[in-house]
Amino acid sequence: MATLTTKAIELKNKIKNQSNIGLVPTMGNLHEGHLNLVRESLSQHPITVVTIFVNPTQFGKNEDLSSYPRTLDEDIEKLRQLDLKNSEIIVFSPKDEKEIYPSAPLINFSISSLENKLCDLNRPGHFNGVMQVIYRLFKLISPNSAYFGEKDYQQLMIIKTFSHELFPEIEIKAVPIKREASGLAMSSRNNYLNDDEKVDALILKNTLNSLKQNYFSSNESSVNLIKEQIDKTISKDDRWQYLDLLDADNLLAPSAKTTKLIIAGAYKINNVRLIDNTVFNI
Ligand code: PAJ
Repeated sequence: MATLTTKAIELKNKIKNQSNIGLVPTMGNLHEGHLNLVRESLSQHPITVVTIFVNPTQFGKNEDLSSYPRTLDEDIEKLRQLDLKNSEIIVFSPKDEKEIYPSAPLINFSISSLENKLCDLNRPGHFNGVMQVIYRLFKLISPNSAYFGEKDYQQLMIIKTFSHELFPEIEIKAVPIKREASGLAMSSRNNYLNDDEKVDALILKNTLNSLKQNYFSSNESSVNLIKEQIDKTISKDDRWQYLDLLDADNLLAPSAKTTKLIIAGAYKINNVRLIDNTVFNI
């Protein structure tokens, strides 16, 4: 069963006697990437709360808050079609922003070691907005686990760090990137692309993959070699918002201690900003 709640107080009542809750926070327009997070939670908890809320505090002034796809009825239908066996989904989708933000946030969240790189370069304030909403959802729901996708890798790292410090009782679970048959990482923003643009968008994932291959086929100075190739790639195509190679465990520059690398990129097709990454052990 999947039931819809729009009020925080109702949600609180529904879950008050539950001691094993999985949480899947989303902004809706659900696709298979989101549904995989829900499946993962359903396999581990009798109750899964899926939140659908286009969070205004994480959008910049010139970003797509007003046009962000809102498809609540279809989303609920997709959740109803999951094979639920003995578990239950509660959808929390507040109609009124005040259910989440009774007053405007005055306290800011910042994790400096994970900022000033990747998405934070193009979206100042974005991760503060993400932490604002996650803080309120964690307080409201007190889940045992919360599920996040590796597609938004910097977001995942920020939430892991944030949660480790402020909500150590909540386990943060990472779920791998789900892709279209073409290899394009699934995203609600793919809906903005026409067929030609979807083909163009493959440049993102193809570039990440070829840089990774080059890393393995080169000799020991490969981090520097890949950095050079990244600089060349960016200088030839101004649609790159960023493309970077970092230590995947801390998002710092790779060092002698690094065991896992991430190559992450953001690529703009007309006004649509797409992100993707590949993480690999070395
Ligand atoms: P949204 O973009 O709706 O994504 C919700 C969750 O689904 C995130 O954890 C995201 O990483 C995951 N996800 C999206 N596409 C995916 C894919 N192709 N494969 C695997 N996981 C994928 O991310 C947000 O919303 C918001 O920032 C949120 C965390 C809900 C806070 O508002």
